[in-house]
Amino acid sequence: MTNVYNDKVMDHFINPRNLGNIKDADGKGEVGNPVCGDMMNLYIKVDKKNVKGEIISEIKFETLGCGAAIATSSIVTEMAKGKTLEEAEKISDLDVAQELGGLPPQKLHCSNLAASALKKAIRDYRSKK
Ligand code: FES
Repeated sequence: MTNVYNDKVMDHFINPRNLGNIKDADGKGEVGNPVCGDMMNLYIKVDKKNVKGEIISEIKFETLGCGAAIATSSIVTEMAKGKTLEEAEKISDLDVAQELGGLPPQKLHCSNLAASALKKAIRDYRSKK
């Protein structure tokens, strides 16, 4: 592991996937990082009639934070899209960092936002059912 962002992290930081919000979201997760105060909102739409179960059909995020926070937010949307809620809620901070090919050690805490916001959005959806 190095102290600089790798190419995949830079790509997701500069060209974030699924950026924005979903006005009629089925679930929303808002989290703040206690370490630095950065913020993330994550929105999901759920396909309730899929043969595989309840599937995340659409997912978007808004993140006010550092490069690693934006890159982890972006990649978690790609990891979760098309997954069942049960599969998506198993995605951990470590999975997110690994999917990006690693983060500099001092930036590992930044991956907390993405996995937590996803879990919170799923909980929010379930609480409204
Ligand atoms: Fe705040 Fe990275 S420094 S999330």
